[in-house]
Amino acid sequence: MIPKPSLDPERLLQELEQLATYSDTPKPAVTRVVFSPPDLEARAYLTRLCREAGLSLRADGLGNLFARWEGTAPELPAVATGSHYDAVPYAGMYDGTVGVLGGLEAIRSLQRAGFQPKRSIELILFTAEEPTRFGIGCLGSRGLAGALVPDSLRELTDSEGRSLEELRQIAGYTADLDEVLLPEGFYHSFVELHIEQGPTLEQEQVPIGIVTAIAAPASLRVTLEGRGGHAGTVLMPERRDALCAAAEIILGVEAFAKNSGSINTVATTGLCEVYPNAVNSVPSQVRLEIDVRDVDPQRRDGVIRSIIQGVEQVGTRRGIDYNVQIVNLDPPAKSGTEVLRALASACGEAGVKFKPMVSRAYHDTLFMARVCPTAMIFIPCRNGVSHRPDEYASPEDIARGTYILALALAHLSYA
Ligand code: GLV
Ligand code: MN
Ligand code: MN
Ligand code: MN
Repeated sequence: MIPKPSLDPERLLQELEQLATYSDTPKPAVTRVVFSPPDLEARAYLTRLCREAGLSLRADGLGNLFARWEGTAPELPAVATGSHYDAVPYAGMYDGTVGVLGGLEAIRSLQRAGFQPKRSIELILFTAEEPTRFGIGCLGSRGLAGALVPDSLRELTDSEGRSLEELRQIAGYTADLDEVLLPEGFYHSFVELHIEQGPTLEQEQVPIGIVTAIAAPASLRVTLEGRGGHAGTVLMPERRDALCAAAEIILGVEAFAKNSGSINTVATTGLCEVYPNAVNSVPSQVRLEIDVRDVDPQRRDGVIRSIIQGVEQVGTRRGIDYNVQIVNLDPPAKSGTEVLRALASACGEAGVKFKPMVSRAYHDTLFMARVCPTAMIFIPCRNGVSHRPDEYASPEDIARGTYILALALAHLSYA
């Protein structure tokens, strides 16, 4: 018999507000890049909250944190929940954090209700879901799932040339990277609570989304090298302007996605670095980062091929040297039937309507799905806005999502 979770929504909101203060940009913008001072402050704060809840903590070499509520059958694979608390530059305060603090509050609400888990319940606080620092998203969960092997992790550096190896050690995570990979069968199931980051739930006035699949993300890094010079004296026929080449490539990225034949294809050139970046110098070097996603990985890969051909054509025609690196080319993930069932029954018990849906954003669940059966709970966010300071989810929606999560964790703990 599962008791009714006894939620403290006010405390949860206060904690979300407190977590948002660990930021490199002033309120309401949140910027929290992995292993930056605000990220380390957030780690200290979250660690304290987990300890106060009586959870036992461990960390791996990547700085993934695991807070465990021991069940009566600790030898069984545990049920897990969790999310990330890093934030892209000028983000809001709900992306990821709702699943971190909501996960913790779900556990506390079950403790308050006198629930005793059978399988242990673990809260996972993933390192660097956002690609901001190391150029690749879901760093922590990729490591846990073996999608990034230790040798690849050891090669990662940030844009200032500082290595992940150095930064993690300074942050105090000195454990062997060879031990990050989770042993087979370690988790029974994983559920992540997250804001939708899109408009569907709000528009359709459905309070809960249950994620059945996560779209397949990919990203490319393109470097272009032309010839620089004086903006007044290098005549137009002599130009090999790397930024003009980049402009054509960027418009190509947009066109290939728009013409893929499906509204589900999206492509974005979100980063463009120009060297020397001076008004009176011809741009000699450009670095682009391009994000391409689709629910259909074959169609996504077709767009990627077109982008690469486009770079070759533009580069050849303009006399620009080019290099294209595929940073990641991830398959989509499907949710597990048993976890979906647990979420649907939790909604039923709570008398809450839900909508099965696909996640177009990626999440740590994309990689946890390689480790154990998974699913996600989405809650609405205002106007579908995310990765912006005005990102907002209502206290009622956050509490509802947390309540559903608590019920689902309780059920899975006895599954
Ligand atoms: C994760 O933040 C994503 O880009 O989907
Ligand atoms: Mn995000
Ligand atoms: Mn997120
Ligand atoms: Mn994300």
